[in-house]
Amino acid sequence: VTTYVGIDRLFPSSPSGPIDDAALVVEGETITWVGTRADAPADDDRVDLGGGLLTAGLVDAHTHPVYAGHRFAEIAARTAGATYSELAAAGGGINATVRSTRAAAAGELRAAVAERLAAWPAGGATTVEVKTGYHLERDGELAAVQTLHELSGTGGVPELRVTFLGAHAVPPERAGDADGYVDEVASWMSAAAAAGAHSCDVFCDEGYFTVEQSRRVVVAGAAAGLRARIHADELARTGGSRLAADVGAASADHLLCIDAGDAQALAAAGVTAVLCPVTALGMGRVPPVGALRAAGATIALGTDHNPGTSGLTDMSAVIGLAVTALGLSVADALVAATAGGARSLGLGDRGTIAPGRRADLVLWDADHEGAFAWALGLPPRRVWRAGHPLL
Ligand code: NIG
Ligand code: FE
Repeated sequence: VTTYVGIDRLFPSSPSGPIDDAALVVEGETITWVGTRADAPADDDRVDLGGGLLTAGLVDAHTHPVYAGHRFAEIAARTAGATYSELAAAGGGINATVRSTRAAAAGELRAAVAERLAAWPAGGATTVEVKTGYHLERDGELAAVQTLHELSGTGGVPELRVTFLGAHAVPPERAGDADGYVDEVASWMSAAAAAGAHSCDVFCDEGYFTVEQSRRVVVAGAAAGLRARIHADELARTGGSRLAADVGAASADHLLCIDAGDAQALAAAGVTAVLCPVTALGMGRVPPVGALRAAGATIALGTDHNPGTSGLTDMSAVIGLAVTALGLSVADALVAATAGGARSLGLGDRGTIAPGRRADLVLWDADHEGAFAWALGLPPRRVWRAGHPLL
């Protein structure tokens, strides 16, 4: 049992609101008491943290970390006017990364992914949603699920929640046969679940999978026990969010092109809206945060780390960008990056600082959450996962 004091401010991500000059008690992996220093129990081991802002461990709700190679030239071309869809049609995009990822030796890819994921705690993330999707054939996709499952919580890697994204794109050798490929992906779902996937995803968008194809993917996933997280209405408004609402998906992600009615449908169906500000900025379009807030939708945030649109691994920067680029308040962005992400992943044991929750905690070099909007990348001083130091 440890009583932590010396906390300038504790942001619990719960309606009870922040506590100044706070204390908390951790027993093993679990938070057992939260309050002011003046009220803290006196009889335990006391550790003075020496000041700072304490939040729940951040949850990155959307990443694509299993890839080899980079596409920097393509990204530069986008800044000079080429569109994401044009570059994909010209042999770039997801399938360019599929070629380099398939070509990587399994051991090298695994080591690169492990090293990559070990960067997340430095941005305050203790739980990270991780997608497959750069193999697009059965064995590679299932091996990616297994690799992620095995890396979870090892060697500085945060806890991972694996999403099977076999339907990220139609692979080059199946060009013109999206329907056939969808049927195949659907047949891999139970093997993906057995290999450690918790969710399935599909890139439901113009040039990728139609709503009808995406529905087949997520229905097959549900039959294998995989909750849906859907890339929806990012490049064009093709109906991905309505599909997410219709099938009761865990999340609908990106949402750059949704309208107010789509936002209401997501909120009414309890689908978490996962927003990825770096990608939104790169695509030159922001999701309608006002409509999502007015509808009462739960919002989560993600780095969307991937080789095509976002190299970020720092969730503290994502909080700052959600404020400056998307227009969330700092408090709402921080709740989205903790409780919102946990909710989207069905993780009721974390995301807030409260008795009974897991001691996933971050001590930040600041005395108020406003610092996130100022720093655009705030360094954590300490990070704990389940009561143990991760950083
Ligand atoms: O979330 N939209 C689909 N997937 C990624 C991009 C993947 C890539 O370009 O490699 C995204 O933005
Ligand atoms: Fe994505």
